[in-house]
Amino acid sequence: MLSIPFPRLTLATYPSPFHRLPRLSDHIGRDVWIKRDDVIGPAMGGNKTRKLEFILADALEKGARKVVTFGGLQSNHARLTAAAATRFGLELHLFFFERRPDRLQGNLLLNRLLGARMHFVPLGGGGGGMTLETTSRLVRLLALMLVGPHYFIPVGGHMWQGALGYVAAAQELVEQAKAVGIEEGWVIVAAGSGGTLAGLMAGFHLLGARLRPVGIDVGKLWKAFPRTIARLANDVCRHLGCPHTFRPEDVPLIEGTYAGEGYAVPTEQGNAAIRLLAQTEGILLDPVYTGKAFAGMLDMVERGQLGQGEPLIFLHTGGVPGLFAYTDALS
Ligand SMILES: Cc1ncc(COP(=O)(O)O)c(C=O)c1O
Repeated sequence: MLSIPFPRLTLATYPSPFHRLPRLSDHIGRDVWIKRDDVIGPAMGGNKTRKLEFILADALEKGARKVVTFGGLQSNHARLTAAAATRFGLELHLFFFERRPDRLQGNLLLNRLLGARMHFVPLGGGGGGMTLETTSRLVRLLALMLVGPHYFIPVGGHMWQGALGYVAAAQELVEQAKAVGIEEGWVIVAAGSGGTLAGLMAGFHLLGARLRPVGIDVGKLWKAFPRTIARLANDVCRHLGCPHTFRPEDVPLIEGTYAGEGYAVPTEQGNAAIRLLAQTEGILLDPVYTGKAFAGMLDMVERGQLGQGEPLIFLHTGGVPGLFAYTDALS
């Protein structure tokens, strides 16, 4: 049992559902389970709920009134931060480094409904030219000029407080898996800012669990991404009083292979994965994150890269509101 001695707000009820996918398992000839973090939290939920419980607790403890974060146009992190900030009386400013679209669809529409202040600064960027840390530093400076003093949340909630949410999730999952006889297996997750993967790496390590995380990079967004993820996992272990050094080469990240042309550009494989899960199990994925990650899992199974008979656990991190911004690609 791990103790996580940091302040935490409540945004959801745990544990999130965990169950087998019988028809999909028959279809691919492997035992596949799903952990439903897509159904937790406010305003249509997702993995950022777990991160924000720790991040916003820290913000409130530090006396913050305004919160700033940033992301892609269909950022689920932005939408969930809007909902959570509203719930706790914080003023939220969202930065997007693209032109304001003529129509607000999907998550952008929800941000608007949730009362977030949205700033569109069409500077371009992205595409893997900078590290996540450098990008965050630059946005922080810009936000300081435009918004004044605030509590800053890096893209995707990529901070050690946020990753604590996935240490707690690792513990929850280990217990749920054990209850159905799973001690060993693979846990597949989409990696955008990498904080969910970092939290799971730290959590499974600290618990001595034999569940092995695999992150599927969905966007080719960051320079030196494995180093960034390793650093975050190390920070988490240090803050929990059990220092450990993950090196970049220890990070189980499949970089680039399933990202297609890049972040937020759907892939054929990803769209096929969305249809397959929808039509075997009645569960929806999204084209930006979970569809690509699920496609990666299916392909790796076919190539024999996810062991032989061990169970596979897909961590569904949410993102379904993004579907509604991709009607052309999916219809
Ligand atoms: C639906 C969804 N899945 C996965 C991720 C990736 O999580 P992380 O940023 O922790 O890598 C995100 C956010 O980036 C997301 O919105």
